[in-house]
Amino acid sequence: MCGIVGYVGYQDATTLILEGLQRLEYRGYDSAGVALLNGQGIQVRRDVGKLSNLRAKVDSNPLHGHTGIGHTRWATHGAPMERNAHPHVSMSGDFVLVHNGIVENYLELRAELMAEGVRFDSDTDTEVIVQLIEKFAHNGAQGDIVEATRQAVKRLRGAHAIVVMSQVQPDRLIAVRIGNAGGVAIGLGDGENYIASDIPAILDHTRRMIFLESRQMAIVTAQDVTIETLDGQAITATIHDVPYDPISAVKGEYRHFMQKEIYEQSRAVADTLGGRIDFEHMQVMLPDLNLTPEKAQAIQRLVIVACGTSYYSGLIGKFFLEKIARINVEVDYGSEYRYRDPLIDANTAVLAITQSGETVDTLAAMEEAREKGALLWSIVNAVGSQAMRVSDGYITMNAGPEIGVASTKAFTTSIVDQYLLAVYLGQLRGTLSESERRAYVEALPKLPDLIGRALESAPQIEHLADLLHHCQDFLYLGRGINYPVALEGALKLKEISYIHAEGYPAGEMKHGPIALIDENMPVLTITLKDALYEKMISQVEQAKARGGMVIALATEGDNFIATKADQVIYIPETPELLSPIVAVIPLQLLAYAVAVKRGADVDQPRNLAKSVTVE
Ligand code: AGP
Repeated sequence: MCGIVGYVGYQDATTLILEGLQRLEYRGYDSAGVALLNGQGIQVRRDVGKLSNLRAKVDSNPLHGHTGIGHTRWATHGAPMERNAHPHVSMSGDFVLVHNGIVENYLELRAELMAEGVRFDSDTDTEVIVQLIEKFAHNGAQGDIVEATRQAVKRLRGAHAIVVMSQVQPDRLIAVRIGNAGGVAIGLGDGENYIASDIPAILDHTRRMIFLESRQMAIVTAQDVTIETLDGQAITATIHDVPYDPISAVKGEYRHFMQKEIYEQSRAVADTLGGRIDFEHMQVMLPDLNLTPEKAQAIQRLVIVACGTSYYSGLIGKFFLEKIARINVEVDYGSEYRYRDPLIDANTAVLAITQSGETVDTLAAMEEAREKGALLWSIVNAVGSQAMRVSDGYITMNAGPEIGVASTKAFTTSIVDQYLLAVYLGQLRGTLSESERRAYVEALPKLPDLIGRALESAPQIEHLADLLHHCQDFLYLGRGINYPVALEGALKLKEISYIHAEGYPAGEMKHGPIALIDENMPVLTITLKDALYEKMISQVEQAKARGGMVIALATEGDNFIATKADQVIYIPETPELLSPIVAVIPLQLLAYAVAVKRGADVDQPRNLAKSVTVE
């Protein structure tokens, strides 16, 4: 999940590349670097840590040119140190390269090259690529960067996104994509062209983009862009016109992107619903699914594949799709699904949920589903992303760019998308009466207001964070459709505050985990006025009986719970199927408030990145 930017044209490449890397810093921030060509050979500046360290180094020792590449790193092989920062230069100094992905056979390639006299400067897997390119350039490719790169990448195993340039041919950048190690977007300008691993890096400069597919190469000069297969066959690539929304990509009056994105959820959900409800007939419209009633009726199983927060969203979607569309649903982690030889046939639909549309484990699960003949759908936020492009049909989240590494509005909007999908499938499969369909649809327009009211608990959450931010362990308990909300609440807390937090099905506590509970273990229970309320009350009693501090998430008007729990956070009454969308809001606010009080780096938590494009 590294960030890559390349530029060739008439402007100062350094400025454009650093701006682009700033937009990609959420993808990885262990180190950063930039390389320029300017007639005096290859100039490189690299530094460990955040992009601001690289900026300071460039300010104190400027470099200029009209052709260049840059990189922000999330370390895989080789600790976060300057010597392991990209770009990496070949031994002779002729070639320089940036890379996203993992060279799975780098040890054997490194040994082979060292036996031929190559000296390595870093501990990374990436460096073997630029040394291989040099080897082929000097042996058979007559110095040609295209041919040398073509031959070099054929020796690599794994998924890769690579941009390489040479002082021997300083007018061009070569980009290669193999597998799903993150995207490669080619931005088309006038007398200038761009390369980026993600759209936001270059969206200020162009909206016309080509997205490389796996096993494709781009030869990019200031005037031309040529797309070829790795075997050298020319390809006529599609030029996409990417929507541009500069406002969403800045923090505005908020302290962090995550805070902004939590507070944007009323509008985000309204945008998710926009254009998808026919209020005259009270029915759902999802034309991007390209689905006919016959195809919908033929579906016998639906498998949801996703990772992290998106996986928890899928656990909630299972409830909708089984209850409303009457389809048997299975939910699996992308990283597990692809290795268990899943049973798939033509009557199986596979739905990938992925905010970035570039998560390699989810993309790999989609490939597995495709190879076995499933109907392939995706719910994505990043328009033009790989997951969206390889699907038979898709539903966009329409949440706007989600920059904070901790996913918030993508979680709530992806749940709304699954609810829309469930009603839409119910319509096509005839599993809904007129009154049932109207009731399900009528509940939706109330959501933005319910979310807004849940956000009003922020001052109380601040007080709770004062009490709890020193805690070292947390338990989140939920049942039924809100058990996944307990999982998500725990993930939010642990990934931005570094507190160990566990989400658990409340009914499972008595089978072991209840041994954890004492006065040092805050227990947050999702105790809404739903069919499982009584069960959750007994859960609260059990936790209290063991000295636990219980914070209950409850339904407005429920005064009884206040006699049982130590703290109560109220949310407005919400239809049970939609309650996770509202219940998660206070949990997002709590994680955010605790992390801020602990001085954590909320938008860029340690060890994480926004889009996980390595296995
Ligand atoms: C959630 O806060 C994390 N950022 C992470 O679990 C994320 O949800 C996961 O990596 C999946 O990302 P995706 O939705 O872009 O595929």
